[in-house]
Amino acid sequence: MILLTGGAGYIGSHTAVVLLRAGYEVLVVDNFCNSSPESLKRIEKITGKKCPYIRGDIRDRALLDNVFQQHTIEAVIHFAGLKAVGESYAKPLDYYHCNVFGTITLLQAMQAFGVKTFVFSSSATVYGNAPIPYTEQTPTGVPSNPYGRTKLHIEQILQDLSNSDDEWKIALLRYFNPVAAIETGEIGEDPLGIPNNLMPFISQVAVGKLPELAVFGNDYPTRDGSCVRDFIHIMDLAEGHCAALDFLQNPAHPNGVHIWNLGTGKGISVLEMIAAFEKVNQVKIPYRIAPKRDGDLAEFYANPNKAKMELNWQAKRSLEDMMRDLWNWQKNNPNGYR
Ligand code: NAD
Ligand code: UD1
Repeated sequence: MILLTGGAGYIGSHTAVVLLRAGYEVLVVDNFCNSSPESLKRIEKITGKKCPYIRGDIRDRALLDNVFQQHTIEAVIHFAGLKAVGESYAKPLDYYHCNVFGTITLLQAMQAFGVKTFVFSSSATVYGNAPIPYTEQTPTGVPSNPYGRTKLHIEQILQDLSNSDDEWKIALLRYFNPVAAIETGEIGEDPLGIPNNLMPFISQVAVGKLPELAVFGNDYPTRDGSCVRDFIHIMDLAEGHCAALDFLQNPAHPNGVHIWNLGTGKGISVLEMIAAFEKVNQVKIPYRIAPKRDGDLAEFYANPNKAKMELNWQAKRSLEDMMRDLWNWQKNNPNGYR
């Protein structure tokens, strides 16, 4: 059985579907601070399989001990954490407590029960401001915000843990920009309040919940002046987790820390994303050019070759698929899971 911390959230719920379809059993631990059990019900509907869950916090060691005592957990995929960049400036202690202390507590419980296979949700933000495209050999930099720094700290803790005990098998998955939803539209990204990220903002403008999009900057040194990112379909990203887990669980593969970029390798600009959404879905997105957002980098995207070579994984879905599937989720669930 695979333990998914934060499995009710955006990336965890899509990964749960992929794992269940691949024949894995899963167990979710989530405190639902940024999600609801509704996503888990829908996973059961989509897959026709059980998606059991425990409501609880990863900082609660007694709860985790219970989980490991009562279930045969072979590996953990660790999604649980706080992820709003803006909020992390205002509440750095909450971010370090949840993300860093939470991960340490989880790792201590795993160590106590001899469970040593671990997949971690990291982020391309750990590269800081490095030359593009980013490869896994690109040295990590200094992320521009406290959220990003929690990810870098956790990566370093995991490396130290692996150095201390060579039985650990650890994957650091550095996500680029996940977007869209499962093709059938029952689960998707459901941000609380006004979205911080580009694509949920666009889809909420499209559905009429928000009047217009502010494009943060149009004089970056990019092909059209707006920022460029590596947007990846959430189902491709979810499949990357399954591939990483299979790799770690294969006894022929070495123990230790493995790092994989999960991106498409292609950069798309903010203005190109707006145009693609409009074209594919035949919906107008009113927007205005606004000042740059602090901490944004002009352009970054992955070199995804290592994941292709080692995991036999690559992003398959197109920009059109992303736009169609995002809109399918948003228009069928204008208020998310509520
Ligand atoms: P999400 O907020 O949808 O999911 C996170 C889940 O963790 C939520 O269900 C939340 O309720 C739960 N959670 C938070 N703190 C918890 C705690 N202390 N105990 C138990 N459960 C807790 O976010 P997501 O987009 O699915 O992201 C999942 C992971 O991937 C996060 O660690 C995030 O930092 C990382 N990540 C996300 C992105 C992205 O663009 N979405 C990019 C890079 C990395
Ligand atoms: C952000 C975080 C990153 C985190 C990732 C996933 C910052 C600086 N980085 O990445 O650490 O891992 O989310 O959660 O916040 N944009 C607009 N208008 C909007 C929203 C966004 O123009 O209303 C632009 C941004 O300027 C950016 C691009 O769209 O250029 C993508 O933004 P976003 O979706 O927030 O992702 P990142 O900034 O790449």
